[in-house]
Amino acid sequence: MASRAPDLDTLAQGARTDVAGAGSLQDLTSVRARYLGRKGSVSDLLRGIGDLPAEERSRVGQQVNALKVQIEDWVAERRAALESRERNRHLEEHRLDVTLPAAGQPLGHLHPVSHVQRDMAQFFLARGFSIEEGPEVETEHNNFDALNVPADHPARDMQDTFWVEGDFVLRTHTSPVQIRAMTGRTPPFRFIAPGRVYRHDFSPRNSPMFGQVEGFAVDESVTLANLKELLYAFAKHMFGAVELRFRASYFPFTEPSAELDFRCPLCRGDGCNTCSQTGWIEWGGCGMIHPTVLRNCDIDPERYQGYAFGMGLERGAMLRHELPHIRLLYDGDLRVLEQL
Ligand code: DAH
Repeated sequence: MASRAPDLDTLAQGARTDVAGAGSLQDLTSVRARYLGRKGSVSDLLRGIGDLPAEERSRVGQQVNALKVQIEDWVAERRAALESRERNRHLEEHRLDVTLPAAGQPLGHLHPVSHVQRDMAQFFLARGFSIEEGPEVETEHNNFDALNVPADHPARDMQDTFWVEGDFVLRTHTSPVQIRAMTGRTPPFRFIAPGRVYRHDFSPRNSPMFGQVEGFAVDESVTLANLKELLYAFAKHMFGAVELRFRASYFPFTEPSAELDFRCPLCRGDGCNTCSQTGWIEWGGCGMIHPTVLRNCDIDPERYQGYAFGMGLERGAMLRHELPHIRLLYDGDLRVLEQL
């Protein structure tokens, strides 16, 4: 290549140093403009070519054009270096750990009553009980008569029972499942029957719809002691160390009958609204199945005995979470449910 005029060499050197010294893409743009822009040094030179003697024009023109190409090359090279540096800096600053767990959606959880129901089923399945179901719209016969509840028993009163047209009711307890399960079966057997029941009733402890779990076992030698052991173990499984009270009571479908109470979790016995100042909350009823009920299911009470019980599901959830009102379980208020 023909030698360049010295001022071209100086210019080239200056351009090279300036391009190499550009610390950012923005710097680089102004450096490039300084040399190659419309008012840049190289453009000045090109414009000046017209003033040169004719024999020099072509040579100098080629040299200036070559310098222009050369500077463009340096700029491109520097731009690539700056861009890659910029990209690396960005990657470094926004480092993403793909092994971190995703932020995810807020998750819900099972309803506290469902938890109670599952824990319960787990306990009884482990003890050899099977799960039996019955309809929520039940015959008056299964809900009352077959269970030895006489026609004038207060439980049949309009106060308590939702009557459905015909001889049907919304079952007031899960006990009618005893009738369905025992009829046509030969002991021994043991069942639990969880489900919804309905009553005209509303208080901190009662709701017009609530859940119960019925349980019953029939065999040739089933005793009240078996029942008591079972229920105490059940309470321990569900609630851990809880103070219980086994209290004589009356149900038409059991003889003898008892009720099982737990210490009010809110006042711990001092008395409060939730336990109606008694210090105790009734968890459910139980007893030895009345011979008449067995007979109604074609089971010979001379040969077989059985125990039965019916526990409130919500009461269990109230005890677990120290809830003052049963309604807190039904309102669907996330501020409450998220705490449970
Ligand atoms: N069915 C009764 C109620 O709802 C509870 C009950 C008491 C169930 C004694 C039983 C029992 O199986 O033996 O109040």
